[in-house]
Amino acid sequence: MQLRIMEERDLEPCAQLFAQVFSADPWNEPWDTGQALKRLAHFHASSGFLGVMAQRQEVVGFALGNLEPFCMGTLFYLREMCIATTQQSRGVGKQLYHALQQELESCHVRAVYLATDRGIPAASFYQGLGFRCSDNMAFYAKRLAAPPSTTD
Ligand SMILES: CC(C)(COP(=O)(O)OP(=O)(O)OC[C@H]1O[C@@H](n2cnc3c(N)ncnc32)[C@H](O)[C@@H]1OP(=O)(O)O)[C@@H](O)C(=O)NCCC(=O)NCCS
Repeated sequence: MQLRIMEERDLEPCAQLFAQVFSADPWNEPWDTGQALKRLAHFHASSGFLGVMAQRQEVVGFALGNLEPFCMGTLFYLREMCIATTQQSRGVGKQLYHALQQELESCHVRAVYLATDRGIPAASFYQGLGFRCSDNMAFYAKRLAAPPSTTD
């Protein structure tokens, strides 16, 4: 298995994988490849993008996000990470994360942070990698009303 830095040409196959993984359990989100590509391309086009991927014949998984300036130094916001459903729980995610962290350390990044659901299996995965759920920080979100339909 090859572990390498993501490039623009990788976005399409990674988007296909992303849509498959997050449409399945435990996420069951209604992704199609086009929507997934928009999201991944957005992060890719944003300042400080960094992604790593695992590949055999096909893409096995990827992790990506953006470097951000902060008063204490550079942070990395890990935005998306997934491993192909058939390849999960075989150590690929751990190898991929370590490849990402090595890359971040070589860029003198001070910390990695991410937001995810508390109860999902990935929470144990991240805790096993040394991430801690903050006692002080909270993640706030607010739903907004959909705009009225033009046919109303
Ligand atoms: C979460 C995910 C990236 C983990 O990758 P993975 O290749 O399946 O995980 P690994 O096999 O490398 O596991 C590494 C460690 O995490 C633990 N782990 C992995 N999945 C776990 C689970 N479902 N429950 C508990 N522990 C888990 C493993 O036991 C292993 O521990 P060890 O090092 O002590 O043996 C992958 O399962 C995935 O893509 N899930 C669906 C998408 C997702 O949830 N992405 C993250 C959303 S933010």
